[in-house]
Amino acid sequence: MGCDSDIDGVAENSFSPAFAGILPETMGSSDLLSRVEACAATIRQRVPGFAPKVGLILGSGLGAFADSLTKSVSIPYADLPDFPRSSVAGHAGKLVLGFHEGTLPVVTMQGRVHSYEGYAPWQVGFPARVLCRLGIKALVVTNAAGGINTGFAVGDLMAITDHLNLSGSNPLVGPNDEVLGPRFPDMSHAYDPGFLDLLRAAAKAEQVPLREGVYVSLSGPSYETPAEIRMLRTLGADAVGMSTVPEVIVAAHMGVKVTGISCITNLAAGLSKQKLSHAEVSETADRVKDVFSRLLTRFLSNLGKSL
Ligand code: HPA
Repeated sequence: MGCDSDIDGVAENSFSPAFAGILPETMGSSDLLSRVEACAATIRQRVPGFAPKVGLILGSGLGAFADSLTKSVSIPYADLPDFPRSSVAGHAGKLVLGFHEGTLPVVTMQGRVHSYEGYAPWQVGFPARVLCRLGIKALVVTNAAGGINTGFAVGDLMAITDHLNLSGSNPLVGPNDEVLGPRFPDMSHAYDPGFLDLLRAAAKAEQVPLREGVYVSLSGPSYETPAEIRMLRTLGADAVGMSTVPEVIVAAHMGVKVTGISCITNLAAGLSKQKLSHAEVSETADRVKDVFSRLLTRFLSNLGKSL
């Protein structure tokens, strides 16, 4: 699979889904900061002196990309306090820290959790918070998505220019700690225009056709109905998925610039005769993984020069 798949198994983890959607009673305004800091400290202990400049949230198919990092260190999510875990098939569930092309220090997440697995909004955003706390200057988010734009084809890659959060949740709900970020963060440039230019340049250099569009996030886990897809198109969405937005909101909160890439793994409901299935999502992601990696590699090389 070339990018993160949104429809997956049920989490097998240390969190009780019993409080999904609500904050644990113990969560005070400084609790989140101390949990994030404790997790970041655990990572720092494992890679002393390593200061990642870029964070990448990757699906399982981009594991090969993490393999290309040099001097790498892997840390299973299970070793990290408060880090939510997914039992998603094919998702490694680990952080890989290392150098891209020998020089650019990066931290990659192989696998992510989704709110449909039963996690509270703050938990879904927690891993991105930890990456930001490690001091990254850029966050790259990737996902599998259904194509709503009728000009899109299965296997296309789409640079995310903006999003619609129709998931019904927000990772910032709860007490705010100003040390992490402002109560009401600006989302006007959630997907950094400069990074978008770099992505376009990377696509051109690699001769990878790159679509652009608005990503809409729904909670899932059921796929959309054709009527919902017609509504989402009217609202301005080009691609639909069940992830990514929480991580982008957290990064905006913490002042970290973001770029996002969707793999159009299937046509959205009602746009093809084919039934929607996770198998199609996985197959397409697997098919495009090399092109996806090429785009990402070139983007990071150029990004590294500008950080
Ligand atoms: N809808 C929602 N999420 C998805 C889709 C889709 O069609 N494809 C991949 N993730």
